[in-house]
Amino acid sequence: MKQRVLFVCLGNICRSPAAEAMFRMLVASKGYADRFVIDSAGTYGGHSGERSDVRMRRAAAARGIEMTHLARQVRQEDFERFDYIIAMDDNNYESLFRLAPNREAGRRIYRFREFLRNHPDWSYVPDPYYEGHEGFELVLDLLEDGCQALLEECLKGDDSLR
Ligand code: 4NP
Repeated sequence: MKQRVLFVCLGNICRSPAAEAMFRMLVASKGYADRFVIDSAGTYGGHSGERSDVRMRRAAAARGIEMTHLARQVRQEDFERFDYIIAMDDNNYESLFRLAPNREAGRRIYRFREFLRNHPDWSYVPDPYYEGHEGFELVLDLLEDGCQALLEECLKGDDSLR
């Protein structure tokens, strides 16, 4: 069975598409590409159809990560389709909870911070939209940390992947 992971932020043009691209690359590097469905979405639909923010794409490209996602808003089907629905910050988490159709779906909503291992000072992935270059680098540092632990978690949850 495939593991289905959806990363969620506000606009779906910075943090969550970067998480999606980074996690996809990590999974592929371990040889598990065909065992995962990986996607991202935003709680706000104002950027739907757009490519990711060029500053995020450039910062990711400098680390060898290509971002090709087109922004979309979270939809009701996402709550049935994904095993891990992972919010970048508390606002995204609360928005997802409000949208979740039932309690069972609510149990599949996580905060990205649950997967951080090496950043004790960060309890969320900060919105880089109004920040300078360092804001985008920080997002990538946090994503690198959390994506490792997320993969370990997914492998634990699926015996066929070990
Ligand atoms: P993201 O960043 O949630 O990481 O994609 C943002 C992108 C756009 C806006 C806010 C945050 N915005 O307000 O348009």
